[in-house]
Amino acid sequence: MVFTGAGISAESGIKTFRDSGGQWDEYDLNNVATPEAWERNPILVLDFYNARRKQVMKAKPNSAHKALVELEQKFNVQIITQNVDDLHERAGSKNVLHLHGEIMKAQSTADPSLVHTLQNSSLLHGDKCKNGSQLRPHIVWFGELVPNMELAYLLVENADILIVTGTSLNVYPAAGLLEYAPKKSAKYIIDPNDVSLVIEEGFTYIKKNAGNGLPELCQKLLNEK
Ligand code: APR
Repeated sequence: MVFTGAGISAESGIKTFRDSGGQWDEYDLNNVATPEAWERNPILVLDFYNARRKQVMKAKPNSAHKALVELEQKFNVQIITQNVDDLHERAGSKNVLHLHGEIMKAQSTADPSLVHTLQNSSLLHGDKCKNGSQLRPHIVWFGELVPNMELAYLLVENADILIVTGTSLNVYPAAGLLEYAPKKSAKYIIDPNDVSLVIEEGFTYIKKNAGNGLPELCQKLLNEK
C-alpha cells in the first residue's frame, strides 16, 4: 500500500500545496477549492483548474512514479493518492485510487456520478453534461465528502507493507488513513522534511526526496523478496 501526496509529483514540476511557494501561498483555497467558491465565482474556479490542468499535461512521471511500477514485478501494489494528477497512471501503475478527484475529468453539477474524461486543458463556463447541466472539475473540494474513503480504509487495513511519501498529513480524513494500518505491517515514510507525527508511530523515516528515496526503497524490497 503506497499513500502518496503532492511531494511525489514535485520533481515532475507540479507545485506542492503547503511548502513555501506552494499553491496555497499563491491562492486562497477558499476562493478556488470550496463549493462556496464555485457558487460565488465559477469562472475563477474553472480558470484555476484550467491552469493546473495545463501544468499536469506538460508534466511527466518521474523516477518515484516509475519505481512503483517496477515494484509490481513482485508485489501486489495498491496506490492511494491525494493527487489529482494522472502521473501514476501515465507511469503505468495498475491500481490507483484517487481520494481527492482527478483533474483530467469533469463531473455534472446536477449528478456527480456523470463523469467524463477531458480531451484538452480547458473546461469552460457553458460546457454541459449530456443532460444539459454545467460541468465542474472532478475534484473533491474542502467541505465535501471523500467518496473513496471507505474503500481506502479497507485497503490500508489489509496492508503488509505501507509506504507514505510526499504528504504533509494535514488534510483529513485522508491523513487519518494511517491509523488503520495493521500494527505488524512494515511502515516507511519518505519526505525531505520532518513529518514528526508518524515517526512516533513506528515508521522508518527516510529523509529524502521521493525521486531518490522511493527507487532505493523499492529496489531494497524487490531484492529482499
Ligand atoms: N519528495 C517527497 N516529498 C516531498 C518532496 C519531494 N521531492 N517535496 C516536498 N515534499 C513533501 C513536503 O515536505 C510535504 O510534507 O511533500 C509534502 C507536501 O505536502 P502538501 O503540500 O500539504 O501536499 P499534500 O499532503 O498532498 O496535500 C493534501 O491538500 O490542498 C489539499 O487537496 C489538496 O490533496 C491535497 C491535500
